[in-house]
Amino acid sequence: MVRIQGIIPCWSIEQEVRKPMRRKLIAGNWKMHGSLMQNESLLRALIGAQSPDHVDMAVLVPAPYLDQVRQILQGTNCAWGAQDVSDEVRGAFTGEMAASMLGEFGCRYAIVGHSERRQRHGETDALVARKAQRALEAGLTPIVCLGESLEQRERGETKSVVRRQFGAIIEVLGAEGISMSTLAYEPIWAIGTGRSATAAQAQEVHGWLRQQMAEHAETVAAGLRILYGGSVKASNAVELMSQPDVDGALVGGASLVAEEFLAIARAAAQ
Ligand code: PGA
Repeated sequence: MVRIQGIIPCWSIEQEVRKPMRRKLIAGNWKMHGSLMQNESLLRALIGAQSPDHVDMAVLVPAPYLDQVRQILQGTNCAWGAQDVSDEVRGAFTGEMAASMLGEFGCRYAIVGHSERRQRHGETDALVARKAQRALEAGLTPIVCLGESLEQRERGETKSVVRRQFGAIIEVLGAEGISMSTLAYEPIWAIGTGRSATAAQAQEVHGWLRQQMAEHAETVAAGLRILYGGSVKASNAVELMSQPDVDGALVGGASLVAEEFLAIARAAAQ
């Protein structure tokens, strides 16, 4: 840190205050992958390895495996959660999963608004916000995904798209709800393509999202955990995780390989 004549520049004071508030989270989004046998060996490898201090780890698994995951992970420092949650509390909603049910299986997190659900299942900003609300009511931390498509980025619409998506969340959750949530910036063009955003591209959007939040509540903005997702792997994790506003990763493909996932967690600890 550069100090001029003993004066600490104000940004560094802010960083010193902000940093300890935001512990990095490396969360594995298994999507629709796994089997009882594969999960068992993946989870045993994860908990058998030395996991880094000062980094939170979690796996977000298909719902049928929640009980298996709970049995293997309880008492370890790897948390678990689901990939979606209903916007309803209970009732005649075939195929839906209530947040309270996920809570019964020890889930700490639930992803909401992943682009695969926004695109394939027509989930709207308003629906995603309600899902986040239900998760919070049940004591879960929603991991709210946002991100633009390639066409939107090429048209220069990245900020307006994520502003709209984030705005809908702020409107429903308010600053207090956001303070108990996690964001994940996942540019759609980077998901599962092997083409990650550059560290600078990620930082630009993360910093901007934090700034948007600061306009509502500065302390909430300073504590808000913003994950990056989209082709994160061991080889690009160090650079991405070293950005000041990147507070961890939502990892798809690479979370299915224990060594890769652990390497990403170690990168976050650096
Ligand atoms: P990926 O997926 O790491 O395979 O790109 C990330 C995600 O969709 O959460």
